[in-house]
Amino acid sequence: MKIGVFDSGYGGLTILEKIRQLLPVYDYLYLGDNARAPYGSRSFEVIYRYTLQAVRHLEAEGCRLIILACNTASAKALRSIQQHDIDPARLRVLGVIRPTVEAVNGHHIGVLATQGTVQSQSYVLELEKQWQKANAGTAMITQQACPMWVPLIESGEHLSDGADYFVDKYLSELWQKDPLLDTLILGCTHYPLLLPKIEAWIRAHGLRHVQIVEQGDIVAQSLKDYLLRHRDIDDVLSRGGTCRYLTSEQADKFNQSAGIFLNTPVSAEHIEL
Ligand code: DGL
Repeated sequence: MKIGVFDSGYGGLTILEKIRQLLPVYDYLYLGDNARAPYGSRSFEVIYRYTLQAVRHLEAEGCRLIILACNTASAKALRSIQQHDIDPARLRVLGVIRPTVEAVNGHHIGVLATQGTVQSQSYVLELEKQWQKANAGTAMITQQACPMWVPLIESGEHLSDGADYFVDKYLSELWQKDPLLDTLILGCTHYPLLLPKIEAWIRAHGLRHVQIVEQGDIVAQSLKDYLLRHRDIDDVLSRGGTCRYLTSEQADKFNQSAGIFLNTPVSAEHIEL
């Protein structure tokens, strides 16, 4: 059986790449709902319905474990799917927000994410839960929605001069809300592609002490730990080292755009959800 990796679009490829670097032996199935992306500003009901359709598809294709490599889907759909829609004896579905939060140890935390993730308050709730568990007092959490970043990245404009305007806009707004930020969570799977611009902005503003939290390595390590803890699941996963790519868009469009996110060429298959 395979490990499924789901994203609304291409951003989950940044997570998949890190997972495959750390755990190359397994067989993977990536599903991008590119025809209906972005999810970021959609309602709870729509994100839940779309994500559940994708989960069902990956299950039917033989996945025993599915990673929602999309913060918006993790924020809005994961809990409902875990509680109401799957039989854990046959399928496990994991998200990316909890492992990300577990890797944070600052006291003034900024969260950059889509509107949907910000509105869900998932990062705030998970961070507060973690501090309570660790008896670590409180910290300040400040969120910033960045609605223009995903379209900039998906259109391949993220390293253009034009992107500077929106990088400056959202980071300035965030720092105005909390000038003492020491940690910056990139709470959207697309945002690592903007990292050169984000780092340049941080340097230019004398903020080198700020720790930037990227999800790829964190989610990969968390999956590795999960498989060590859940031998019953690990035992049924096939080990052919393969990866197939499914998309709700036209396959050739996916193959072309995936090049922005991955260094290797891919050959995707079109599916209807
Ligand atoms: N991949 C999504 C996330 O991590 C962002 C893209 C979208 O809005 O669909 O939140």
